[in-house]
Amino acid sequence: MSGADPRVRAVLKLAPVVPVFTPDAIDDAVQVAQALFRGGLPVIEVTLRTPTAMAAIKAMVEAVPDAVIGAGTVLDAGQMEQVKAIGGRFAVSPGATDRLYAAARDTDLPFLPGVATSSELMRGLEQGLDTFKFFPAVQAGGTAMLSAWNGPFGDVRFCPTGGIGAQTAAQFLHLPNVLCVGGSWLTTRELLAARDWTGIERLAREAAVLAG
Ligand code: 3PG
Repeated sequence: MSGADPRVRAVLKLAPVVPVFTPDAIDDAVQVAQALFRGGLPVIEVTLRTPTAMAAIKAMVEAVPDAVIGAGTVLDAGQMEQVKAIGGRFAVSPGATDRLYAAARDTDLPFLPGVATSSELMRGLEQGLDTFKFFPAVQAGGTAMLSAWNGPFGDVRFCPTGGIGAQTAAQFLHLPNVLCVGGSWLTTRELLAARDWTGIERLAREAAVLAG
C-alpha cells in the first residue's frame, strides 16, 4: 500500500520478537536493554505505565544506541511528543484515536496503533497506515482472527501482542501477515525482581531464533 510509513515495517522486520518491558528503576532498565540487545533482540517496546518510563527510555537510548527503543501504551498526543523528544524511535498504542493519528503525523514518529476489530483496522487504513499491533491478540481472536483478516486485508501486516508466550509465538510467526510478535514474557516481574539479566538474555537468545 503506497503512502504508509515504511519505517514501521522496517523496525518490525528487525527481529521476530519485540519485548514489551515495563520499567521501574532506571539503572535496571539499562541492564534490561543491554541484556535483550546482547540476546539478539534490538527492538524494545517500553510501556509508559510507570512514573520512571520516560526517563528509562532516555537512559536506554543513551546506553544502547544501536537498539531501537520505542514507547508503548502511548495514549495521548503529549506523550507522543515527549517520546520523540527523548529519542524514542517509535510509538505503540493499545488502540487509536483520530487525535493520536494526527499526533503521530505531527511528530513524524513511526506509529504502531493497536486494533482488535475490522472497523478499527479500516479506520487505520483510512489514516494511511498499513501495519498494526493486533491487541490483545489472544483475547481478541488469536491466530484464527489474523488468518481471517488475511482475506479482506491481505496487504496489511501485524505485530500481534497480548497473551503470547515463548511456547505460542511461533504459531503467530508462521502466519503470512505477521511480521513479529510482542510480549512481556522476556521481562517478567519475577525476572526483574531477581535482577536476572542473564535469564533475560537467555530468553532473548531463544526468542531471536524463532522463525516464521
Ligand atoms: C502490551 O501492552 O502490549 C501487553 O501488556 C503485552 O501483553 P503480554 O503481557 O500478554 O505479553
